Amino acid sequence: MTEKERPFLFEINPSSLETMLSWTKMRIVSGPDPISGAKPASFFDKELGNSINKDGLGWEKAFKLFSNIIVPSARPFDHPTSLSFVAAAPTPAALSFDAVLGAAEIFAGNWDGGSGAIHAENQALAWLASLAGWPLKNAGGVFVSGGTLGNLSALHAARTVYKTKNPNFPKKLAILCSTEAHSSVDAIARVMDFEIIRVSSDEFGRININEAASSLNKASEIFAIVANAGATNSGAIDDISGLADLAKIHDIWLHVDGAYGLAALADPESSNLFKGLEHADSLIVDPHKWLFAPYDSCALLYKNAIFGAQAHGQKGHYLDIVDKNAWNPSDFALHLTRRPRGLPLWFSLAVYGSRTYAKAIKQTLKIARQIADGITKIESLELILGPQLTVILFRSLKLSKSELYDWSERHRRDGSLLCLPTMWKGETVLRICVVNPDTEAKKIIDVLKTLA
Ligand SMILES: Cc1ncc(COP(=O)(O)O)c(C=O)c1O
Repeated sequence: MTEKERPFLFEINPSSLETMLSWTKMRIVSGPDPISGAKPASFFDKELGNSINKDGLGWEKAFKLFSNIIVPSARPFDHPTSLSFVAAAPTPAALSFDAVLGAAEIFAGNWDGGSGAIHAENQALAWLASLAGWPLKNAGGVFVSGGTLGNLSALHAARTVYKTKNPNFPKKLAILCSTEAHSSVDAIARVMDFEIIRVSSDEFGRININEAASSLNKASEIFAIVANAGATNSGAIDDISGLADLAKIHDIWLHVDGAYGLAALADPESSNLFKGLEHADSLIVDPHKWLFAPYDSCALLYKNAIFGAQAHGQKGHYLDIVDKNAWNPSDFALHLTRRPRGLPLWFSLAVYGSRTYAKAIKQTLKIARQIADGITKIESLELILGPQLTVILFRSLKLSKSELYDWSERHRRDGSLLCLPTMWKGETVLRICVVNPDTEAKKIIDVLKTLA
């Protein structure tokens, strides 16, 4: 069907469409503007004004609001100088493909809606499952919007399995994790209404395994252990093997939160950091963090996909038509309608090959080491921890807490570096997390020298 034949009530403006496509191309090729950043709501009240009105602004004006007002107010997370939180570094192929995918409007909730897309997503999931050392026969899962939903969906499956095995389960159930578990685990505990038994962590941020063992001996209400494979604050990797042994003894589920860190599986030389992962029951890894894919994407994998399907999935007469024997991604997490958000990862892997991914992870690890080495050579700074994976914690020996915040804010505003403080063992420190293979260590070290 040609453009003209489209029987749409909503008109197409071909020249604006061209403008939008060339803007997309420009953004992919040039990357974000490092000085873009948040503005107050009063600014948008004025600039976006009455953008939704009865007559509409038309394509051109509406798009200008996006390109001139909305984009420059977004934090440039995919810029190589964005080293806070866990930033993003989507490949050009993944970004380009994501734009294409939007246009293809594929429903990937069930096989009938998006069979080819689902098959390709499953190839990407199988790649991850094989890196985790899981037999592909039973492993499977789905791409969800982020680590929070991934952790929640896995823990719901874990609790369902526990309840099936223990029909007289206690009224209040719990999970066990370290003090360094991600904030999403607290949020999930509130939503799912379970307790958290928190075990202390050592000086590197790894779970204290003896304490974990004694907590498990004392508490019968624990249905799952959540292990860190790259804690957000410190990059710490728990003793997954030790936790897997404990999970086996107590016949409970082991979930590995690798939203950030499990990306390092893509580098075969780093995969031994995650010994014991082969014994886990579920894992998550967010391609939108360190696997070079755009937002929003979390790979949720079950070692036995059947446990995911038994816990999730929706029923309704309008769904009776869905072929229950086919692979229906909506059955594996808390969702129904979904876009095939795993496809940008699949496309990028298909374009560049997994060897390039190994190289990109290796390079990122190297950059983090170079930055950490640079920190040790700056007199006014002290390296506290790392790099663990690509997270570095360090303190300024000269600046007060408020001066540190001013310094961070200044460099964020001028676009030279996004490096924000965090808390570590009760102290305000600076934190860097590198996920971008294009980050230039020397440039970062030069900015850090201004912390004098
Ligand atoms: C270790 C870890 N788990 C879970 C999450 C939550 O992921 P999302 O922000 O995609 O929901 C994060 C986010 O930074 C994380 O670092």
